[in-house]
Amino acid sequence: MTDRDDATPKPLEPPLPDDARRSRLPGFRELTLAERVALVARASGLPQHELEAALAPGALPPAKADRLIENVIGLFELPFAIGLNLRVNGVDRLVPMAVEEPSIVAAFSRVARLARERDGFHAAAAPALTVAQIHLTDVAGDLDAAAGRVEAATGELLEEANASVPRLVARGGGARRLSLRRLKHGESGQTFLCVHVHVDVVDAMGANLANTVAERLAPRLAELTAGRIVMGILSNLADERLAHARCEIPWDALAFGGVPGPLVARRVEEGWRLADTDPYRAVTHNKGVMNGVDAAATALGQDVRALEAGAHAWAARDGRIRPLSRFVCDTERERLLGEIALPLAVTTVGHLRQLHPGVALAHRLLGCQRASELAGVLAAVGLCQSLAAVQVLVTEGIQRGHMRLHARKGDPPAHDPSA
Ligand code: MEV
Repeated sequence: MTDRDDATPKPLEPPLPDDARRSRLPGFRELTLAERVALVARASGLPQHELEAALAPGALPPAKADRLIENVIGLFELPFAIGLNLRVNGVDRLVPMAVEEPSIVAAFSRVARLARERDGFHAAAAPALTVAQIHLTDVAGDLDAAAGRVEAATGELLEEANASVPRLVARGGGARRLSLRRLKHGESGQTFLCVHVHVDVVDAMGANLANTVAERLAPRLAELTAGRIVMGILSNLADERLAHARCEIPWDALAFGGVPGPLVARRVEEGWRLADTDPYRAVTHNKGVMNGVDAAATALGQDVRALEAGAHAWAARDGRIRPLSRFVCDTERERLLGEIALPLAVTTVGHLRQLHPGVALAHRLLGCQRASELAGVLAAVGLCQSLAAVQVLVTEGIQRGHMRLHARKGDPPAHDPSA
C-alpha cells in the first residue's frame, strides 16, 4: 500500500478505546464461523453487521478494485482470521491475519497466550523517518567539492523538499535533514554522489512522499553538483524506522510435545544460536518471523513487499544474514527472554484503508492509531510467531504439529507429504 499526499482523506472510522477490546477468547477455535464473527464483534465492541459486511464476498466492489491497479479482471480472496491472546504494552490486541498457510494463526495464538500470563509483549518504534535517495553521477570535477556545495545548500534544499509535501508538513512531518554518501562501482570505477533526504512521514508508509521529495530536489541537485541524475526514489532499507519488541516467558510455561519447559527453553536458545551461526537456517528462522508480520500486514493493507525487502536487508546488515529475533535463557530467573528488532515502514492512513472494507475493518479491530504504534505491535507479532515456530521445531517437529491441528479440524492435513 502506498500513501497519496495529494488525496483528500475521508475521516477514518472512530477508534475504540483501548480497554474496550479483549483478545483472550477461550474456545474460539471450536465455534462455527458465524459464532466467531459474533464473538469478535462482542470482544471488539464493533457492530456485528459491520464485521459481516466488511468480510462478505464482494465487499470490495470490482469497480473499486479496478481503480487500484491495472488490467483487473476480478478479485482474489484469502482467509481472514484473528490471532488471539496478544497483549502489547498492557493493551489487548485482536490481530487480523490474512494468510493461506495452516498453523500460523493457531501457533501465534498459543504463544501469545503464554506471553500474556507474564505481562505480554513490550514494544516501541522509532518515528517514521524515511529516506528519499537522489543518485547523481558524471559529477564535474571533485566529488568532495560537489558534496560541499550540496551541504552548503542544506537549508534551501530542505525548504524546497517541504514545499513539495505541504500536507505532510501540515500534519507535523517533513524533511528533517540531509546526508551524503560517495559511492564507487567496483568493476567500472563509476562514481556516484548519493543524497539522502530524511523525511518524517508521520503515519504514512512514505513511498509516494519520499518519491515526491526526491523528484522535486533532483534538478537542483544536478545543478549544484554539475552532475547527471541517475534516479530519485525512496530506500526500502528503512533502518531509521526500527521497531522493537520483547517478552519474558517462565520456563515452566514452555513445556510442549512432552518436553519439560526448562529443556524447551534451553533448546529454543540453542535454536536461536543455530540461526545466528548458519545463514541457511537464519533465512528460514526469519521466514517464521515474517509469517506473522506478513499475515497481519496483508490484512492491514500494508506494502508487504516493502516490509519483506527491508526486513531481510536489515537481517543481512553485517554482510551475513542473521536471525531477526533472539532467544536467550535467564537462568537466574528461569525465564526465556525473547527480543526482536526490524524495520517496519507501515501506515495507519494509507488509501487502501479508505477503499477496502476488509482493510478498514482490520485497522478497527487492531486499534492502532499511529504508525509507530502499529509498527510496535507488528514487531510483537513477529516475535511471537517466531517463538511459536522454534518451540515446535525443537520439540515435536513441524509436520506432526500441522497434522495434529488438521486432525482436530477433521480435514486432511494440507502439509501431509503423503497426501
Ligand atoms: C514455516 O512456514 C515457518 C518455519 O519454517 C519457521 C522456522 O523454521 O523457524 C517453521
